[in-house]
Amino acid sequence: MPTVYVTRRIPENGPDLLREHFTVRQWDSDDVIPRDVLLREVQDADGLLSLLTEPINDEVLDAAPNLKVVANLAVGFDNFDVPALTKRGVVGTNTPEVLTDTTADLAWTLLMAAARRIVPGYKYVIDGHWKTWGPLLLMGQDIHHATLGLIGVGRIGAGMARRAQGFSMRVLYYDVFRREDLEEELGIEFADQETVLRESDFVSLHTPYMPATHHLISHDQLKMMKNTAVLVNSARGPVVDPDALYEALRDGEIDSAGLDVTDPEPLPADHRLLTLDNCLVVPHIASASYETRAAMSQLAAENIVAVLSGKKPPTPVNPEVVEAQGLQ
Ligand code: DGY
Repeated sequence: MPTVYVTRRIPENGPDLLREHFTVRQWDSDDVIPRDVLLREVQDADGLLSLLTEPINDEVLDAAPNLKVVANLAVGFDNFDVPALTKRGVVGTNTPEVLTDTTADLAWTLLMAAARRIVPGYKYVIDGHWKTWGPLLLMGQDIHHATLGLIGVGRIGAGMARRAQGFSMRVLYYDVFRREDLEEELGIEFADQETVLRESDFVSLHTPYMPATHHLISHDQLKMMKNTAVLVNSARGPVVDPDALYEALRDGEIDSAGLDVTDPEPLPADHRLLTLDNCLVVPHIASASYETRAAMSQLAAENIVAVLSGKKPPTPVNPEVVEAQGLQ
């Protein structure tokens, strides 16, 4: 029976499915698996169910001579060295589609919460400062009829555009791929990145993380933004330069930020971004609903079952390996 290793506690439906077919071992903890344990545990593994906290690179692949598939419990797979997987004929998979709306819901929540001072307002109340209705108290930015700028308009970016329709917003987008289908469907407008940054009241990031998107938002880009603008990042932390963001928020170059992802991640509790009232940070929870995390667990397991049964996995990230191996 093939062996599958699961690198964290995850919703049980995925491991349950794996146990129907394989010998399954698991890092039975909510903490990151120590690297030496992972390297030891993969030695006899045919399949690996990994998280975005585990770099899957030559080191892991060298330690795992039997490995045929690595299924990431995430849509993003910047923790994969894809060429290294492909070179060895190991199929990599991710979990797209199942988390799109849940992630867009959270990005939208951050947008609204940052714009309307929800966390400072809550702190104000629990700190006992609420003495009267205040005409100047905790004023924020209007969302309705404002302009939303999307940097990246894949599935989650398109989900943001759909939500924006309910708020009568104008939506601008920049993407390396022009999406005329979405322009027609959602009335969104393509513009170059600088125009999106200059004209938007809200800028929401939806790009994958790769060398080309490292610190895509840094000093120059933040300076282009309106000083009333809100920045939302639910993509990957290093897409934003944290030092530039700190200075822009501190100096009022932009209004506020809502971050699901940070650089570094986790963000230490004494990080200077957390000293700012206009920076709202949550701990990378955009896909964290019960239903969606179960769907991610299921899809990751289905990818492993497929490959180890000689079948085409639902969501490979290196389809050329699937094809080369004739998986159908
Ligand atoms: C992903 O899927 O890439 C998220 O960051 C975690 O759900």
